[in-house]
Amino acid sequence: MSSIVGIVKESFPGEKRVAISVQAVKAFRRSGLVVRVETAAGAAASQSDEALAAAGAEIVSNAWDADVVLKVRPPTLEEVSRLKHGAILVSLVYPDRNPGLIDALAARGATVIALEKIPRITRAQKMDVLSSMANLAGYRAVIEAAAHSQGFFGPQVTAAGSTPPAKVLVIGAGVAGLAALGAARALGAEVSAFDTRAAAREQVESLGGKFLTVALTESGEGQGGYAKGMSPEFIAAEMDLFRAQAKEVDVIITTALVPGSKAPLLLPRDVVEALKPGSLVVDMAAEQGGNCELCQPGAVVEHNGVKIIGFTDLASRMASTATRFFAMNLLNLLAEITVGDGVVIALDNEVIHPALLLYNGGPPPKMPPRPAAPPPHKRALPPPPTAKAQQQEIMRPTRIAWGTNLAGFFAIIAFFVLGRFAPAEFLRHSTVFVLACFVGWQVVWSVTPALHTPLMSVTNAISGIIIIGGILQVGTQLNAATIIGLIAVLLAAVNIAGGFFVTNRMLRMFHRDAPSGRKGGRQ
Ligand code: NAI
Repeated sequence: MSSIVGIVKESFPGEKRVAISVQAVKAFRRSGLVVRVETAAGAAASQSDEALAAAGAEIVSNAWDADVVLKVRPPTLEEVSRLKHGAILVSLVYPDRNPGLIDALAARGATVIALEKIPRITRAQKMDVLSSMANLAGYRAVIEAAAHSQGFFGPQVTAAGSTPPAKVLVIGAGVAGLAALGAARALGAEVSAFDTRAAAREQVESLGGKFLTVALTESGEGQGGYAKGMSPEFIAAEMDLFRAQAKEVDVIITTALVPGSKAPLLLPRDVVEALKPGSLVVDMAAEQGGNCELCQPGAVVEHNGVKIIGFTDLASRMASTATRFFAMNLLNLLAEITVGDGVVIALDNEVIHPALLLYNGGPPPKMPPRPAAPPPHKRALPPPPTAKAQQQEIMRPTRIAWGTNLAGFFAIIAFFVLGRFAPAEFLRHSTVFVLACFVGWQVVWSVTPALHTPLMSVTNAISGIIIIGGILQVGTQLNAATIIGLIAVLLAAVNIAGGFFVTNRMLRMFHRDAPSGRKGGRQ
């Protein structure tokens, strides 16, 4: 019998997202699953009941009785009591912030996949809702800052006066921080960023930001690409850096987080007080206790003319896109646990197992050991080459050398013969022609693909010479030389225009304005 996937309406106040999209319904239906969506569950995220029904979903008043329940926010205890016994729940869970939740789920014999526990490994990227939501939220943090700001983000020169670019400091260059950096740069701001992980420097600089450092050296690299907690001395050195920066910047966006712990306090009251009136702080870590001492989760507060934005629903503020991304992440995740139209949790799945909080109401069994790789001598190796093949391989360069020499020999003979009978003019042109073929061949074939763009510039230069040669051949009479000259001019012009077009497109792909000021940041 087909498994039923139920999508419930979010009950958290103000939450607009839903764990399904029209596209995901179609994909679930194609794999034979029955999809039940609660009435108006997607209305606030542009996923109307009509559109979902047209895609193949059943619109129901209660979807908690499904075999697999999909949800965005952690369920309430009341919601858990409506879960079918032995069902699978896939949602954000955060058991440390929701006391009693795991016990309630265990009592229902539930299998729970906590989306916040999906490992940040390459294979799991397409299922990583934290990353897809943080990406949106980082962008939205900048938009909220711009909306609350009293000035431009980009530089402006007008008849009524000019303004310099806004200075934005991003603290924590993870997924959200880098998205904020990119968005602030796109609006024209000057952005600097700080992170405890050394690997973040390259990412910040590649997005056009200035990476700040402190004098103290301490590695912030934790496990699985996440950060680790820093020593009190390092945090104090960071605060000194932010205190000095506060005098200069207009906007601070904080995203610093160490998984599994409260957000580090990085902007105490005195740092906020060092900011100019009219400045802004967006504390993205508000829900985890906040990076800013004065932040209030879910609210905008003002202190000495500085606004501190503590919105905890930044992704939900972009509900339509966030829902599409979230549903796509879940679709990819369910592909790991559905076989045909049935649901099977493979305990050896390296993405699912770390996210399993409960398995049939109990602790998940240990991950079964993976079959060991066969020892090197047992691995299937290509058969050894035969003696004949080996000999052929050895002889190959010799044969190529012989072939080239022979061709050269015949070419020299041909030139002697031509030199004897053909006019001197013909011989001179033939020599140039043969040399041009040889040089052209070497130029094109010996260039590595990475250098094809500069190669195009060289060929453009050659085409320019051809155009001049072609124009010189075009006379007043319509003879063979004029026609060939015109064709040469036309083809070379197409080559030049095409070369510029392609090179320009390639350069635009990599183009980033260099960060202004000194590279490398404060020491
Ligand atoms: P992430 O783990 O990718 O990035 C956090 C970054 O903070 C890491 O690069 C880490 O090295 C850095 N960090 C840790 N300790 C630091 C310190 N002492 N100083 C400087 N940097 C430090 O996390 P992600 O996904 O970027 O999320 C960032 C924050 O945004 C989280 O708190 C997350 O919950 C929050 N968030 C908030 C939303 C909202 O609506 N307010 C929505 C989505 C995410």
